[in-house]
Amino acid sequence: MTEPRESLPRHVAIIMDGNGRWARQRGKPRASGHQAGFRTTRDIVEACGKQQIEALTMFAFSSENWNRPQKEVGLLMDLFLRALKSEVSKLCENNVRIRFIGERSAFQPKLRQEMDNAEALTRDNTGLKLAIAVNYGGRWDIVNAAKQLAVQVREGTLEPEQIDIDTFSQHVSLSEITEPDLFIRTGGEKRISNYLLWHLAYTELYFTDVLWPDFCEAELINALDFFAGRQRRFGKTGDQVKGGAV
Ligand code: FPP
Repeated sequence: MTEPRESLPRHVAIIMDGNGRWARQRGKPRASGHQAGFRTTRDIVEACGKQQIEALTMFAFSSENWNRPQKEVGLLMDLFLRALKSEVSKLCENNVRIRFIGERSAFQPKLRQEMDNAEALTRDNTGLKLAIAVNYGGRWDIVNAAKQLAVQVREGTLEPEQIDIDTFSQHVSLSEITEPDLFIRTGGEKRISNYLLWHLAYTELYFTDVLWPDFCEAELINALDFFAGRQRRFGKTGDQVKGGAV
């Protein structure tokens, strides 16, 4: 097993972008880009386990992705379904705990069923915490948390004055795990694209031009090296962080 690095992100969040361009560069249909992207997803999950990262959150389908041509949406749904069927038992053997974040009521019952099964089967696993964001949007997540708090206020179990950052954090997705330390976006765009808006407040942001199907363990290590070189100040001065003059 790989020795833990000195400064390793506990939680990595990834936007996997560039499948379509990867396919176009090869004169292939977009479907083959997504298929290749899926293989990369599988390799990177394994690589994160090997690197002893605790949590990995991957953006597989945004709430805006429904706006793609219907054929591509259908194709992605088929791919998710096939991926769940073929990968979950192996992930379970590897002690990975899987969960899905996002509004899953929009998906077909058979896909929802596979998601529920994957979560139930891996619930007690203690290795990598893998979250797949599907039909997810950061704004949706924040609004959802606000709604839950509003209901508690209406029911008289919460006073508005009690709402603070901590109480709010407990109602967004992934509230039980540490916030992402490192964000990675492949495919060259320098945007957050409505991903984990609440959670990324202090996350180190890493952008690479590499297209997702070409992202590999060596590229992951480049991102980890970038992270290791960052000084995380959380609003403090550099000297405070280094333990020098305050
Ligand atoms: C972005 O590339 C990719 C997606 C919207 C889909 C992500 C899906 C996968 C990586 C494969 C399956 C993953 C799982 C978890 C089963 P793009 O199509 O926007 O690429 P482009 O910007 O080059 O057009």
